[in-house]
Amino acid sequence: MTKMMKLGNENEIPAIGMGTFGSDRFTPAQVAEAVEGGIRAGYRLIDCASVYGNEKEIGEVFRKLTDEGVVERKDLFIMSKVWNDMHRDVKAACQKTIQDLQCGYLDMYFIHWPFPNYHAPGCDVDARSADSRPFSIDEFCDTYRQIEELYEEGLVKNIGVSNMTIPKFEEVLPKLNIKPAAHEMELHPCFQQEELFNYTKAQGMLPIAYMPMGSPRRPERDIDPNDIADLELPEMRQIAENHGIHPASVALKWAVQRGQLPIPFSTTPKNYQSNLQCIEKDMLTEEEMKKISTLDKGNRLVKGQVFLWEGAKDWHDLWDEEGVIVQ
Ligand SMILES: NC(=O)c1ccc[n+]([C@@H]2O[C@H](COP(=O)([O-])OP(=O)(O)OC[C@H]3O[C@@H](n4cnc5c(N)ncnc54)[C@H](OP(=O)(O)O)[C@@H]3O)[C@@H](O)[C@H]2O)c1
Repeated sequence: MTKMMKLGNENEIPAIGMGTFGSDRFTPAQVAEAVEGGIRAGYRLIDCASVYGNEKEIGEVFRKLTDEGVVERKDLFIMSKVWNDMHRDVKAACQKTIQDLQCGYLDMYFIHWPFPNYHAPGCDVDARSADSRPFSIDEFCDTYRQIEELYEEGLVKNIGVSNMTIPKFEEVLPKLNIKPAAHEMELHPCFQQEELFNYTKAQGMLPIAYMPMGSPRRPERDIDPNDIADLELPEMRQIAENHGIHPASVALKWAVQRGQLPIPFSTTPKNYQSNLQCIEKDMLTEEEMKKISTLDKGNRLVKGQVFLWEGAKDWHDLWDEEGVIVQ
């Protein structure tokens, strides 16, 4: 039985999940194989998204494992996300995802990005869509309301948002009928987003940590020569040595102890098994937690350039760094 956490609405969720983004490096079949191994090893939370292009293959795994009696549907917590090009027809997107995943309903459905801006999977970092535009409060709320309807219909059990900022939250939260239960955001030792993390918690949303190990094999478009490798920091290595574990386990223990839910991705059985097990025992000391809190370097890995609209300066515009929504 995995450790559990509480969502903002008090519903329970496993304290660690498995990511499914193949980072343009792993085929849908390889990711599905990892999900199968992961569930057999004990993972119950799986983080999917239609744009990852592998929901059909993962759905086959869910079907196979429930048919075999390895797991019951009610014991899985299946998450997915509406992609940017479906913000005007969320129901169709959600139904397609549920059909592909063969899961009947989703435990959590996210708005993947707060923009309708589309880019083709695997595109280059300089790719721009002519239809891209800045954040719109009305459009976002309309997209969210469509998910609220899916919630009323029982197709979606919890609602989540992703890649949000405080200025955007400040505008939209008062307008929503059902508060988001979680906020999926980039969080790893070198990118702790303390202000947004605290705001997310204070607003009653669970922070879900994507790229919890700093995504060492992320897509080429998200690699900048100045990026810092979280797991190679001497402090992370030292703490790992103290416990006789890999720095990846340190990052995951830190995440859970800080109160964020990590969703690591791995296709290596030894790694995904140890990721699942490491949050159950031999946790970090207060001193080690303090040390990691000093490692933040503001090193955002997913900059989101491909979502920029005409007239936008650069990727910083996506993140409202001056405290106002950049238009
Ligand atoms: N909402 C969003 O916009 C968003 C954005 C990005 C990602 N996500 C989600 O977050 C998930 C995780 O992010 P991510 O996959 O980019 O990054 P990550 O989980 O931080 O890193 C994955 C990488 O770490 C390696 N790894 C995993 N466990 C390890 C271990 N115990 N020891 C050594 N290396 C280990 C894996 O290699 P091996 O395969 O060799 O183990 C893999 O290359 C994604 O899969 C996706 O579900 C969401």
